[in-house]
Amino acid sequence: MIITIDGGSSCGKSTLARQLAEKLGYVYIDSGAMYRAITLYFLRNNVNRSDTRQIRDALKNIELEFIHNKHQGNSEMYLNGENVEYIIRDLVIAEKVSEVAALKDVRVFAVAAQQKMGEEKGIVMDGRDIGTTVFPEAEIKIYMVADEAVRVERRFAEMYEKNPNVSLVEVRNNLVMRDYIDANREASPLRKAEDAIVLNNTDLSPKEQLDFAMKLVSSAKR
Ligand code: CDP
Repeated sequence: MIITIDGGSSCGKSTLARQLAEKLGYVYIDSGAMYRAITLYFLRNNVNRSDTRQIRDALKNIELEFIHNKHQGNSEMYLNGENVEYIIRDLVIAEKVSEVAALKDVRVFAVAAQQKMGEEKGIVMDGRDIGTTVFPEAEIKIYMVADEAVRVERRFAEMYEKNPNVSLVEVRNNLVMRDYIDANREASPLRKAEDAIVLNNTDLSPKEQLDFAMKLVSSAKR
């Protein structure tokens, strides 16, 4: 099957996607990591986001690959052969990623790569437009939501561990800004697919959210 998980920033999509992939022996694809890696390339190469030609030339030079790290037990994002998994989580990337992800050419590029990864099925992919644009025919679609305060807390804790200089206000501003841009852009904005099931995990433990999703898996199999 193909399982899609969409929703706003930091509402637990990747945690659930990892849990499901592990339980079902599926491949987990973090589509957001691809937009983050493209953003890193654009920043490093000073790609002008209002110049279509520059954008298209840049995309021709980008190769994205997920490579499994057997020590960590997860897949890591590689940009032109370089492991960028750590650097793409930085706030500098988060500040720009939604603007880059709103570019039509960038979306066409990323969506084509994502659809290719799903050809064999057996995949859990999380993002913003996976159930609406990337895999509209997916067997299971989950749309995750959680209260903003909880989401900010979670993301802050995650980022603080890597960089104790990060502030709660910065994290909140970034989350609110990205959700706004992601939901209001022209090209495949963040929205719930009509046939997606809403999962509000504000008060759910990781085990409870997995149980919820596994029930959907069981009923889809029937
Ligand atoms: O981890 P978090 O949910 O905060 O973000 P992410 O999944 O790493 O995605 C980073 C950004 O990439 C999002 O804010 C969107 O702008 C963009 N994105 C997108 O446009 N479409 C997707 N399918 C996934 C991510």
